[in-house]
Amino acid sequence: MDAIDVIRAKRDGGALSPEQIDWAVDAYTRGAIAEEQMAALAMAILLNGMSRAEVARWTDAMIRSGERMDWSSLDRPTTDKHSTGGVGDKITLPLAPVVAACGAAVPQLSGRGLGHTGGTLDKLESIPGWRASLSNAEMLDVLRAAGAVVCAAGGGLAPADRKLYALRDVTGTVESIPLIASSIMSKKIAEGTGALVLDVKVGSGAFMKTVENARELAETMVAIGADHGVRTTALLTAMDRPLGAAVGNAVEVAESVEVLAGGGPSDVVELTLTLAREMLAAAGLTAKDPADALKDGSAMDVWRRMITAQGGDPAAPLPSARETHTVTAPSSGVLTGLDAYGVGVAAWRLGAGRARKEDPVSAAAGIICHAKPGDTVTAGAPLLTLHADDASRIPRALEALDGAFEIDGPSSLHPLIIDRVS
Ligand code: URA
Repeated sequence: MDAIDVIRAKRDGGALSPEQIDWAVDAYTRGAIAEEQMAALAMAILLNGMSRAEVARWTDAMIRSGERMDWSSLDRPTTDKHSTGGVGDKITLPLAPVVAACGAAVPQLSGRGLGHTGGTLDKLESIPGWRASLSNAEMLDVLRAAGAVVCAAGGGLAPADRKLYALRDVTGTVESIPLIASSIMSKKIAEGTGALVLDVKVGSGAFMKTVENARELAETMVAIGADHGVRTTALLTAMDRPLGAAVGNAVEVAESVEVLAGGGPSDVVELTLTLAREMLAAAGLTAKDPADALKDGSAMDVWRRMITAQGGDPAAPLPSARETHTVTAPSSGVLTGLDAYGVGVAAWRLGAGRARKEDPVSAAAGIICHAKPGDTVTAGAPLLTLHADDASRIPRALEALDGAFEIDGPSSLHPLIIDRVS
């Protein structure tokens, strides 16, 4: 087979055969297709799309490029969640313990933040001692001890995606629904979960800016899950404003612990419980309501066991920032907009996120939102508090917030839960 023939077939709008797909993914993983050839093929896929059969085969080839994990020795059904990423999206932190407290096992492989969206591993690493890298045997030990584990994916899982995602990142080919869907689903299916709930974010702070695109991505991923025997559903949820009040690393851990203690912002609680019910239903577990796991302390017990089993000290104080700066409301009225993208970029510039994969993040950097859209604010009252280790980062963060909030403007926000796809 020849790479140029495969590129030409997709460039000219044709469908790739199963043999062409298997060969291209395998040859690229082995280094037998050059980076520039795969970049051309990815661009042809972005421009001309893929049929459902092509996406399913492409995903399958990426799964087969590495190992597939197996949790069949556990005495509980496995279920997991994947979020397409957003600003203030700390939901995994309370969600995994809640779902484990209701009888499921949650083997969650998570990522780090890049750009304006945060990463679950970066957030958890603000807990003193906590370790993201675990062997498969250690993952199993944590799952047995706590019922939930959140850690980094090892190099053996979907290596084709690891290589291809890095290439797409630098060739303007990330924004392709078939490539995003196959990238996410190859990792989740290789992770070995029996059931999966996808949280597809919609709005300025998300990959998908419109409900139409988000629905297409969700439908594509749900179909891939079904084709591979993973019970998969998706929720489309709002990312036009930050989720919760905290955006950053340690500040999001603190907010998650508030939720586990029975408090926390109402949107974080609502999304955690809605996703938990979806995950449990997909796993066939409906005996315990997740709200009870927050009330009776059982979710908090799982959290403590999970953090401790990964070397962390759940009782240790979290890092706090050396510098803070408060932005106040310029006028009185109803806060009608708080742009997720603007707040995400500001948190990133404060040090909470990274510009390149190898950059470190600041555990203490971030933003606390004192008001959410719909709240009435008074002129001069605190609206946002910026946290940074280094005061020189604050002016550029303030630039990102220019125009990011609106008082008494038109209101056109999405409902928190926009739709469900199954
Ligand atoms: N997240 C992924 O894992 N892959 C993509 O292609 C986009 C987001």
